[in-house]
Amino acid sequence: MPIRNRLAELHPEITKWRRHLHAHPELMYELHETAAFVQERLKEIGVDEITPGIGRTGVVAVIRGKTDTKGRVIGLRADMDALPIPEQSGVDYASQTPGVMHACGHDGHTSILLGVAKYLAETRNFDGTAVLIFQPAEEGGAGGKAMVDDGLMDRWGIQEVYGLHNAPGIPTGQFAIRPGPLLASSDEFEITVTGKGGHAAAPHEAIDTTLVAAQIVVSLQSMVSRNVDPIHRVVLTVGTFRTDSNASNVIPHTAVMEGTVRTLDPEWRIRAEERIRTIVEHTALAYGATAEVKWTPGYPVTINHDEQTAYAIDAAIAVAGEAQVDPDTPPILPAEDFSYMLEARPGAFMFLGNGDTAMCHHPAYIFDDEAIPAGASWFVELVERRMPAQ
Ligand code: NI
Repeated sequence: MPIRNRLAELHPEITKWRRHLHAHPELMYELHETAAFVQERLKEIGVDEITPGIGRTGVVAVIRGKTDTKGRVIGLRADMDALPIPEQSGVDYASQTPGVMHACGHDGHTSILLGVAKYLAETRNFDGTAVLIFQPAEEGGAGGKAMVDDGLMDRWGIQEVYGLHNAPGIPTGQFAIRPGPLLASSDEFEITVTGKGGHAAAPHEAIDTTLVAAQIVVSLQSMVSRNVDPIHRVVLTVGTFRTDSNASNVIPHTAVMEGTVRTLDPEWRIRAEERIRTIVEHTALAYGATAEVKWTPGYPVTINHDEQTAYAIDAAIAVAGEAQVDPDTPPILPAEDFSYMLEARPGAFMFLGNGDTAMCHHPAYIFDDEAIPAGASWFVELVERRMPAQ
């Protein structure tokens, strides 16, 4: 079955919601107007239950099917937050909040899920319960984790969970996914090197902190090239390098470097931290300096479960046709906090084509409203296929 007629009819209304959200973007957990808008729509739509305040500003809605003979429960997730980016898209419904923009299309994801709510509440052509998850703070605030920690999965008895993200570069209305790792983990580190400051002309009386820190930067790359199995993907970047000297003729006393490690291999998240600590501490020691590593874990690897990915592919083919679905798309190295939901329950995360637009997080990015019917149909298809009407 292709795009549902009813979803095609709802397309203008969903687009209107999307553009309203786009004009009024909010950041992180501060989604008071956005969450209120979502709740108002859900009330109009007539869902069975609305629970705000999950994971601080997340909203959970429940829609029951015509029957519930097997106790099946499927979770569908959308993220609601925007980014601190001044908008340069040139659209006539651009952000009215200076410096804040829906530059990742979460306004589109939220509106798609509201459209799904409207369709499912009208038709209820399934046997079980659909739980609609509107989450805050995907952009660096781990809102997905906050909702899971707030009991999302257990409280609503969610058995499987699905989400989507728009994808610039993939033609609008097409789908792309793969089983296994789809997006990377993202961990951060801060390294402080302490040598012995001194006069630039008397290095023998000092311990050259800059030299030690530079050796550490070089040695860290040997972890990627010499320790990681070449078929695995690990990226390590040192993004900042500062010393406490402001003079060209002074050997600094301390140096601080910050960086990030991204990988598609959960085991390498653990091993990378161990290797970094060893390399940093021992390289410093070899030069008579000391060094400390502060490790800040970020989002886990987003890993699609095999069985649920197969269901996600079947649903996408039903909506768009086999030629429009890539079932083995290459993984990418941004991170996504839907990963926490996939750690809690089996599920799958789908890329929905957004056409030839600027990339996500770019000030000229534009969500393609023409992607709405395909995205909404995919969610509906999943619900009706995983919980077939009796
Ligand atoms: Ni995003």
